[in-house]
Amino acid sequence: MASKYIAPSVLAADFANLQRDIEMINNSEADWFHIDIMDGVFVPNISFGMPVLRDIAKHATKTIDVHLMIVDPDRYIKTFADLGSNILTVHYEACTHLHRTLQAIKAEGMKAGVAINPHTNVNLLEDVINDIDLVCIMSVNPGFGGQSFIENTYKKVTRLKEIITQNNAGTLIEIDGGVTNKNAKKLIDAGADVLVAGSFVFKSENPTHTIKELKEIIKV
Ligand code: DX5
Ligand code: ZN
Repeated sequence: MASKYIAPSVLAADFANLQRDIEMINNSEADWFHIDIMDGVFVPNISFGMPVLRDIAKHATKTIDVHLMIVDPDRYIKTFADLGSNILTVHYEACTHLHRTLQAIKAEGMKAGVAINPHTNVNLLEDVINDIDLVCIMSVNPGFGGQSFIENTYKKVTRLKEIITQNNAGTLIEIDGGVTNKNAKKLIDAGADVLVAGSFVFKSENPTHTIKELKEIIKV
């Protein structure tokens, strides 16, 4: 059975204690760092940018999974590769020439991800599924941490898993937004491979323990 991954979202960390929170992830059972980059245009929020990612990458010892919530992401593909991103995810809704963008990400040595908003149908990815390393299904409207999980997500995971299997693709399914110990198992059972968790990890009393709890739940 393929591995299942937990990716804490650094957006929910304490930015005044960022090194402490990075070390917490390094020393925990977490698999990836999930890094949310927002431009205030594609989403109604601005998170953090290049200098912060550069410093996170200096300390992080695990895969760096960058989620770009920005318009015209093609302009920054090389920059994010140079900053240390291992996976670069762009939004379907932000890319006019998605196939070209995916090739450009891979040409820089990164894994290529595509994120879809809650209103975007997974069938739209069918013709490029073999070019995508990871699909990030947004289970909240992107822009903010701490929102409630949208229940329609399970149906999308099931359908996307079918598309991946039918096309014999190796694409991973990531779920982003409102992930907790209440929905984690059902998401994995539907076909998810990677769960992003921000608030549920960082707002808990013991984030290391919460990551361990999520890892236990998603073990198959
Ligand atoms: C939302 C971001 C998410 C967010 C998840 O736009 O893409 O990665 O940090 O946070 P929680 O787990 O709090 O919903
Ligand atoms: Zn994200």
